[in-house]
Amino acid sequence: MKRSKNLSSLLFLFLIAFLTFLITSVEARKNHTKKSKPHKHHQGKGATSGNRTHNSHLPGPAPAPPQPQQSTIFPVLSFGAKGDGVSDDSKALVAAWEAACRVKGATVEIPSGFKFLIQPITLDGSGCMPDLVLQIDGTLLAPSKASTWPESSLFQWINFKYARNFTIQGTGIVDGQGSDWWNSSAHKRSKHTPDTKPTALRFYFSSDVTVRNIKIINSPQCHLKFDNSSWIKVNNITITSPDYSPNTDGIHLQNTQNVEIHHSTIGCGDDCVSIQTGCSNVHIHHVKCGPGHGISLGGLGKAGSVACVSNIIVNNILFQNTQSGVRIKTWPGGKGSVKNVSFSNIQVSNVGVPIVIDQNYCDNMKKHLCQNQIRGAVAISGVKFDNIIGNYSKEPIRLACSNDTPCTDVDLIDIRLKPTTGDPRSLRSDLCRNSYGKSKAPLLPSVIDYCLRRDGGQVKHIARSHEKMC
Ligand SMILES: *[C@@H]1O[C@H](CO)[C@@H](O)[C@H](O)[C@H]1NC(C)=O
Ligand SMILES: *[C@@H]1O[C@H](CO)[C@@H](O)[C@H](O)[C@H]1NC(C)=O
Ligand SMILES: *[C@@H]1O[C@H](CO)[C@@H](O)[C@H](O)[C@H]1NC(C)=O
Ligand SMILES: *[C@@H]1O[C@H](CO)[C@@H](O)[C@H](O)[C@H]1NC(C)=O
Ligand SMILES: *[C@@H]1O[C@H](CO)[C@@H](O)[C@H](O)[C@H]1NC(C)=O
Ligand SMILES: *[C@@H]1O[C@H](CO)[C@@H](O)[C@H](O)[C@H]1NC(C)=O
Ligand SMILES: *[C@@H]1O[C@H](CO)[C@@H](O)[C@H](O)[C@H]1NC(C)=O
Ligand SMILES: *[C@@H]1O[C@H](CO)[C@@H](O)[C@H](O)[C@H]1NC(C)=O
Repeated sequence: MKRSKNLSSLLFLFLIAFLTFLITSVEARKNHTKKSKPHKHHQGKGATSGNRTHNSHLPGPAPAPPQPQQSTIFPVLSFGAKGDGVSDDSKALVAAWEAACRVKGATVEIPSGFKFLIQPITLDGSGCMPDLVLQIDGTLLAPSKASTWPESSLFQWINFKYARNFTIQGTGIVDGQGSDWWNSSAHKRSKHTPDTKPTALRFYFSSDVTVRNIKIINSPQCHLKFDNSSWIKVNNITITSPDYSPNTDGIHLQNTQNVEIHHSTIGCGDDCVSIQTGCSNVHIHHVKCGPGHGISLGGLGKAGSVACVSNIIVNNILFQNTQSGVRIKTWPGGKGSVKNVSFSNIQVSNVGVPIVIDQNYCDNMKKHLCQNQIRGAVAISGVKFDNIIGNYSKEPIRLACSNDTPCTDVDLIDIRLKPTTGDPRSLRSDLCRNSYGKSKAPLLPSVIDYCLRRDGGQVKHIARSHEKMC
């Protein structure tokens, strides 16, 4: 009796062990099958990369399937956007952004074939999961009437704040519809900020940001601006607005470091790229610029302010029909320094003045800041112009540096410039002053060599003392 009881409990234990084994192996097989399929983080409200559930708003054929590595798509149409170019789709875009923000590797989708009217908005990236993508394949439209633009958002249209590890891409268009702002007085509503007009896309306190493939057009003012940001890549974008649109910079950088802008086409009414104070380690290459004012450092040091710009490389650029080519401009009376700048492999076609340093830069509107008696300037040192070839319509070069803060280590290497008209212009001697450095042949026209003074050892301490302010 005791013995058979022991036997049955042994059998019972055996059965338990066998069942546990069975369950675990089934479980393990299940886990294995799961892993062999792409993992989905989140079903979202819309479609996933596995099988796109079509939204009832979406007519016709589906847009191109998303990248296989993206696991979640958040289409604005699923968040109430109409995409008719008339309805206000701002809330839908913000809602899609906020939902996508919580999911790693999510994509907010602006589908092709639709136009979304968006009021000035802020898309806050703080706390967002990494690898967020804004996929713009359709068109984003800004409000077209300057008079209805909210006064509290004059600074920008779409403001990305605290975006980290974020990409904007797609074949779509960001249209600032700025023509109303370009006309002289339509926008002058605010007493406090009469000159402020919205930037189309602005990044503020952002890092690890990529902007690629999209088109940004007709901004009221600047098209793409980065301030207080770092680790920025801009690749294969197109920026256009008419040459008569005033103050429409292409890309504007301020207090921003570690930037690469490349393989892009920029043509607008002002600078193609404008590099302002606080920028360093900026590399711009393979860019087509024109129309517009060229690629500029500055204006720096306005109203006696301290400006610091360093480690800038600009190479493989084609300028067509621009006012300037490569340019450094500083306001009289500024402080700080510009150092270690290289402009190389530059082609110019019908450019007003291909090479410019102007330490007496003055906006026509601000003549009172440009009186001759104002002393001091942002110091400029270590600027190389190497392999600059093509034709100009005004002068080949201007190196206009100040008496009290001369430019030092300005090098001219292999410059070959012809007048567009075939009628050689002489240099303007008043715009060739106080620049010290070396030159290396070929230099055409040869007179450009007279724009440089040799050596400058005795004045280098001035630049060094200015660098200490940075
Ligand atoms: C199977 O996966 C689940 C959850 O993913 C886990 O709790 C369990 O331990 C796994 N089982 C085996 C046998 O790996
Ligand atoms: C996707 O879902 C639809 C509707 O549920 C179904 O008809 C279709 O076969 C699915 N396609 C794939 C590739 O799973
Ligand atoms: C550049 O952008 C255009 C327009 O979006 C796109 O068609 C093209 O494929 C992009 N090129 C590369 C190399 O990504
Ligand atoms: C801007 O002014 C020009 C010239 O006066 C005019 O032709 C154009 O229609 C105006 N544009 C807008 C949007 O008001
Ligand atoms: C985001 O971070 C990942 C991982 O570090 C990196 O591979 C990716 O390039 C980053 N994306 C951007 C836009 O910086
Ligand atoms: C942006 O950065 C600059 C330089 O680091 C700093 O002086 C400025 O205060 C920053 N802007 C804001 C709004 O914090
Ligand atoms: C000049 O700038 C380049 C590019 O950013 C950098 O690689 C180089 O180290 C800098 N040179 C000096 C002396 O700082
Ligand atoms: C100006 O330079 C460009 C680029 O090198 C060239 O294509 C064009 O023919 C030149 N124009 C004249 C008038 O020489």
